[in-house]
Amino acid sequence: DWTMNAYKDDAIDKIRKQVGDGKVICGLSGGVDSSVTAVLIHEAIGDQLTCVFVDHGFMRSGEADQVVSLFRDHYNIPLVHVDASETFIGAIEGETDPEVKRKTIGRLFIETFEEEAKKIGGADFLAQGTLYPDVIESVSFTGGPSVTIKSHHNVGGLPERMNMKLVEPLRELFKDEVRDLGRELGLPDSFVGRHPFPGPGLAIRIPGQPITREKLDILRKADAIYLEEIRNAGLYDAIWQAFAVLLPVRTVGVMGDGRTYDYACALRAVTSTDGMTADFYAFPPELLGRIANRIINEVNGINRVTYDFTSKPPGTIEWE
Ligand code: XMP
Repeated sequence: DWTMNAYKDDAIDKIRKQVGDGKVICGLSGGVDSSVTAVLIHEAIGDQLTCVFVDHGFMRSGEADQVVSLFRDHYNIPLVHVDASETFIGAIEGETDPEVKRKTIGRLFIETFEEEAKKIGGADFLAQGTLYPDVIESVSFTGGPSVTIKSHHNVGGLPERMNMKLVEPLRELFKDEVRDLGRELGLPDSFVGRHPFPGPGLAIRIPGQPITREKLDILRKADAIYLEEIRNAGLYDAIWQAFAVLLPVRTVGVMGDGRTYDYACALRAVTSTDGMTADFYAFPPELLGRIANRIINEVNGINRVTYDFTSKPPGTIEWE
């Protein structure tokens, strides 16, 4: 569309002016925001850009491969794939406070980017896919809420000791505008239409309990089944975001002739236009029943499935 095309050219101009002949490192998460940021910056400055995909161990099933293939194979944009899961999982293992988890993950992201920057002989800028709503909800601002709702992993600036400056070309945009921009940049529809996924990933979907690799695996399987069923039902695009949450409670069940004592999970799906407010999604009950059955039958460790009927406000979209 015409406006986004003009916006794109303008954004490319601004990036060139800001960056000059400096080197930029861009953190890729696999989501729409960071992908659009990377492709935009690549259009602006070409191989002055290096993308870094940090696998923190909190990714969904198959996510790492999708990102690597899109950037390396499809776009030919240099991409460093860092497996930092030991470090990230180690750092929040046993931690249950949502803000501590978010801040720890945010700090480790920065540290990982710094290390990668060193390896390529230094970088002058760090690019992030920060959106306008991330900024609003992370900082108190005049006329807005006087408390931080949650610290988005990529908001709040860089530590002072750091030499890299931030490049955040999406900072004024809402999600639907970022998607338009992505289309304008030729990103495949399958990518542009992806549901949002938070930077801290599955680490903020295992609330109130120590996070372990085992729990991450259980959640990953439940989440994959849920999304597969939503896609099969043709509902993926009607929903802003859908995901499973692993609850910190085990419940009694019966399977065959046996007793089970396993975790419960919650399913969440919402509609929204900008993530700032949201309504729970009203699935047909038969579909929810089928999803619950599949999860309980196929995921070892879950024997009960609940559905989250909370809108935003009063809930937030993520549980943490
Ligand atoms: P909440 O949970 O605050 O989320 O209603 C609003 C939207 O933002 C996403 N979200 C994040 N995205 N880093 C991100 O990149 C974060 O730390 C983060 N926390 C929440 C959330 O998934 C939803 O789409």
